[in-house]
Amino acid sequence: MDIRKLVKKEVAGLKAYSAKEIPCRIKLDANESPYGFADAAKCIAGVKTNRYPDPEAKALRRFIAKDLGVKPENILFGNGSDELIYYLITTFGGPVAYPVPTFTMYGIIGQALGVKKKEIPLDKDFDIDIDKFLFVVKKEKPKLIFLSSPNNPTGNCFSTDRILKIIEASKGIVVVDEAYQPFSSENGMLPLLKDYKNLIIMRTLSKIGLAALRLGFIIAMPGLIEEVNKVRLPFNVNALSQAVAVAALKGKKEFRSSIKTIVAERERLLEAMETIEGITPFPTEANFILFRVDDPDQVYSALLKKGVLVRDIKSVVKGCLRVTVGTPEENAAFLRALRGVLRRTYGPLRGRDLI
Ligand SMILES: Cc1ncc(COP(=O)(O)O)c(C=O)c1O
Repeated sequence: MDIRKLVKKEVAGLKAYSAKEIPCRIKLDANESPYGFADAAKCIAGVKTNRYPDPEAKALRRFIAKDLGVKPENILFGNGSDELIYYLITTFGGPVAYPVPTFTMYGIIGQALGVKKKEIPLDKDFDIDIDKFLFVVKKEKPKLIFLSSPNNPTGNCFSTDRILKIIEASKGIVVVDEAYQPFSSENGMLPLLKDYKNLIIMRTLSKIGLAALRLGFIIAMPGLIEEVNKVRLPFNVNALSQAVAVAALKGKKEFRSSIKTIVAERERLLEAMETIEGITPFPTEANFILFRVDDPDQVYSALLKKGVLVRDIKSVVKGCLRVTVGTPEENAAFLRALRGVLRRTYGPLRGRDLI
């Protein structure tokens, strides 16, 4: 029996998401925080492993709602925001529209669920090409639009006025994915939630130091949350993650301070990268920096040989690699390795060694 013949054609055409572990000394490829929560073991001591978890994650919901100044009914959790993307497309269907390049899961999940996808290229500044986007909104009437702002992998925020034009023109749901909002100097969309019934804001705890918990959430009007909740699997957020998240977020000060450190390091790293001949780093509001090199394959492999793992982005942004901001020591090691790799290509480098 040929099992592949039984598989839906949309799934047969997919490749499994590759998150394979590449051995390295310094891991700067996945936009994780270099700072974690050290006391996870202590707070799971009381978890009853024979019981299902709280299906509504009430304690965590109350905590996050209070912190964001919304009601618990405005929030729904997913096992990472990846799972919420699944739920959103399952709930609203397609067409699904999003600018490209962007976070790949919108397209992968859209394809797995067999919906029509409309991908609209960003403009030369990596902002939304508003005329083209509005044309698609009018013509295709997407049920769902995903806007990652700050955008992964480009790092910039989209212009607020362009996001608003899309929300206003759309007869469907607009999801503003704010996974990297904690690192941004620009305001997020939360204050606008009450003005737009078709707006969903998506956030995650993954980028601020809790990626292992797999906890993402959407914030929207209660009526919208209720609809998405219909397709949510009953116990999608496990008890260990709920317990650790509540305890960890009580230490808000530590998170705030690690975010501040990452943002300061990002600025130092960017400034240093701007002085290196042979690369073009792009401005960023996230915890990573996209940069262009002449030979991304060679630079990627040479960095890895020196123990530094970055992300190869060249298939979506020509000639580009992406580096996550690490600890000051990791960033210094990355810069040393990068300078070493480029020195071989370009000869002695000009510019100051800032870090
Ligand atoms: C824009 C964006 N949204 C969502 C996610 C996924 O987050 P989570 O870990 O909550 O599934 C990522 C992860 O890289 C991302 O870049």
